[in-house]
Amino acid sequence: MTDARDRADQPANLTANTTAHPFARPPAAATPAGASAPAVARAGLPPTPPTMTAAAPLLRVRDLQVWLPGRGGTRLHALRGVDLDLEAGDSLALIGESGSGKTLTALALMGLLPDGAAVSGEIDLQGQSLRSLDEAGWCAVRGRRLAMVFQEPLTALNPLQRVLAQVMEPIRLHGLAPDRDTARQRALSLLDRVGLDERQARAYPHELSGGQRQRALIAMALAAEPALLIADEPTTALDARLRLQVLDLLQALVAERGMGLLLISHDLALTARRVRRLGILYGGRLMEQGPAAALLAQPRHPYTQALWAARPRLGAGRDQPLHPLPGNVPALDQLGPGCPFAPRCPLVQPRCVAQAPVWNGQLACWEVAG
Ligand SMILES: Nc1ncnc2c1ncn2[C@@H]1O[C@H](COP(=O)(O)OP(=O)(O)OP(=O)(O)O)[C@@H](O)[C@H]1O
Ligand code: SF4
Ligand SMILES: [Mg+2]
Repeated sequence: MTDARDRADQPANLTANTTAHPFARPPAAATPAGASAPAVARAGLPPTPPTMTAAAPLLRVRDLQVWLPGRGGTRLHALRGVDLDLEAGDSLALIGESGSGKTLTALALMGLLPDGAAVSGEIDLQGQSLRSLDEAGWCAVRGRRLAMVFQEPLTALNPLQRVLAQVMEPIRLHGLAPDRDTARQRALSLLDRVGLDERQARAYPHELSGGQRQRALIAMALAAEPALLIADEPTTALDARLRLQVLDLLQALVAERGMGLLLISHDLALTARRVRRLGILYGGRLMEQGPAAALLAQPRHPYTQALWAARPRLGAGRDQPLHPLPGNVPALDQLGPGCPFAPRCPLVQPRCVAQAPVWNGQLACWEVAG
């Protein structure tokens, strides 16, 4: 049986992306560039959009596919059918090696794919389809109900603006404080919550350490009280102790605020114990997903098993060998019609190379899931 997704070599019924690449933007990346602050702050929070329903899941993604422009007018099929579900107060980590499609998934959710990209599939936030939003609709959603902490804190923060002003910006932009003083107090209290004092709040980004910058970005993303926070490798630039601190902070914020967290990481061992559920991504496809505890206790997919076996172990003796994954994630133009993990898989069979396995909601593997 062939997954219908695999027949879609060319995008059908897709939407071309017209939004500029986020890293070409100033940080308010989580808030739309060029938008002006609202003239008047509203009392309380903005009204619920008419399409939102209380019973709808926070995030529902089905068959998300993305094509990127390649050389000579070709299209690179980068995401090949990703399904995600996330409830309020829940946390899901999307794990995979470099190049597996984690950031593209996040950018697709944020409506921030590179120019010329095309998208198909369903992305619903609180029952509202994000695929049908125009730019004005995105302005109301991005940074407000859906916010992202980007991979590189230095490029995501505006070097010319003090941290406090950058945290105040989304509060004012979305009309969440009646005046400047209230917005300042709110930003200071948020910065305090993420562990930055008033002196650090008034600093420029270059005056802060890597860990402090990452905390500032988290405060910025939280400023408009988003329903869903996407954090893309928020600990990459940090040492081991700070990594744990930032992950613990995110975990605490999910519990306090009842928001959803989509955490992106290449580090299964570091992340898995700080989220409720895991999704393992490879070659633009989900390989396995499920509750974190169950998945770690018994990883079933050969890729999950390989990632887990390759983790560094504290206290491992010199005689205990490491099991690094041989080979690399294939480049997009090297992905064939079959299972993307086939060239590295110890269980590979001829049909794995010919046909990609069907995603059954938990696994995509001919040998393990059948
Ligand atoms: N703008 C682009 N043009 C062409 N290819 C791209 C572009 N952005 C990403 N890709 C490719 O898409 C694939 C997935 O990239 P993505 O950035 O999502 O990976 P990732 O899982 O986030 O990796 P990392 O852990 O290194 O951040 C990779 O093969 C990457 O080279
Ligand atoms: S489908 Fe085949 S190649 Fe892919 S993970 Fe399963 S056994 Fe390995
Ligand atoms: Mg990435």
